[in-house]
Amino acid sequence: MAVIEIFPEVVYQDNLPIKSFSLDNIEFTDNGFSKECNILELESFKTIKELIQKSVDEYTYDFLSVSKDVSFYITRSWIINMKRQFFNSEYHDHANSFYTGVLYLELDEGSDSIQFKKKDEYRLLEFDYGKPNKYNQYEVSFFPKKNDLIIFDAKTKHRIGAHVSDTSRICIAFEVFAKGTFGKKNLSNDFNVGQLTLK
Ligand SMILES: [Fe+2]
Repeated sequence: MAVIEIFPEVVYQDNLPIKSFSLDNIEFTDNGFSKECNILELESFKTIKELIQKSVDEYTYDFLSVSKDVSFYITRSWIINMKRQFFNSEYHDHANSFYTGVLYLELDEGSDSIQFKKKDEYRLLEFDYGKPNKYNQYEVSFFPKKNDLIIFDAKTKHRIGAHVSDTSRICIAFEVFAKGTFGKKNLSNDFNVGQLTLK
């Protein structure tokens, strides 16, 4: 038997060589979000930003093979410093960005998770499945390790899993947009495939 995968969903994952980080002078809201929405622009996160950008380029150019007529850049970036939270957050996606990423700086490995959800589709009848696998599940949990970075399509529904210990769960979330010339290879006269340059 063989399986041909058509348009599979992918999540980029790498472990970054981060030696240290500091949350000095960073203010947080009561629910643990940094008030600063451009964290990666701070001098103290310069090295981390460079590492993330390297991964963004690897994912988009090397893996997805996007033309270098466009360049990818981080738009917003913020820190989530989560204390104990027994419930999962709401599923969401990210508007106004091509990709979304999360870098895990502190967490309970094996317990803290991010969950992904398959696109909503109505099911008239629901199958019962035996052993779960990537083809029969509607939700998938990923359990990151310290310094893991993941990047995925901004339209992919995801949520933060519960955090059930008193240790801090600290991560940087960010969004990626692109500028440059899109659609250079579209040489047809169709009006729906024109070139676009974003500056
Ligand atoms: Fe998110």
